[in-house]
Amino acid sequence: MLQLVYISSVAATADLGSILAVSRVNNRRDGISGLLYSDSVRFLQALEGPPLAVETAYQRIKQDPRHHGLVILSRREVESREFGDWAMAERRVGEEGDQFCARVDRLLANTAPNVRATFDSFIKLRRAA
Ligand SMILES: Cc1cc2nc3c(=O)[nH]c(=O)nc-3n(C[C@H](O)[C@H](O)[C@H](O)COP(=O)(O)O)c2cc1C
Repeated sequence: MLQLVYISSVAATADLGSILAVSRVNNRRDGISGLLYSDSVRFLQALEGPPLAVETAYQRIKQDPRHHGLVILSRREVESREFGDWAMAERRVGEEGDQFCARVDRLLANTAPNVRATFDSFIKLRRAA
């Protein structure tokens, strides 16, 4: 299983809701799961699944004009899904920021230390802002 984590800059026109709706349908079809986090300036996304499916999705995502400046932070083989079985996890409607962070913490509990540190610092920065 391939796990890919990247960061990107959000384009002004990006609407997280519509990105997530399409992602969920496609990712379920392709056996991909992961987490998409955004503070409306940056996206931080983890993708996990069969290597070819993840690479294909990433090539598609990279071309998307709703963000730019993608930088891969981590690319590694994992034995099993570290981000759980979410077609794409996001902050739920009505969920408090703290609850969301707690849920992300639980999702991150099984990830590699450098991956966890990346998400942790991103989220803490956001909370401090
Ligand atoms: C930040 C970001 C994350 C995305 N994540 C995914 C994803 O996980 N899976 C996916 O299929 N598309 C994702 N997309 C959308 C793709 O770029 C593309 O629009 C979509 O896959 C096209 O799907 P379609 O061929 O079914 O229309 C993402 C786009 C952005 C901007």
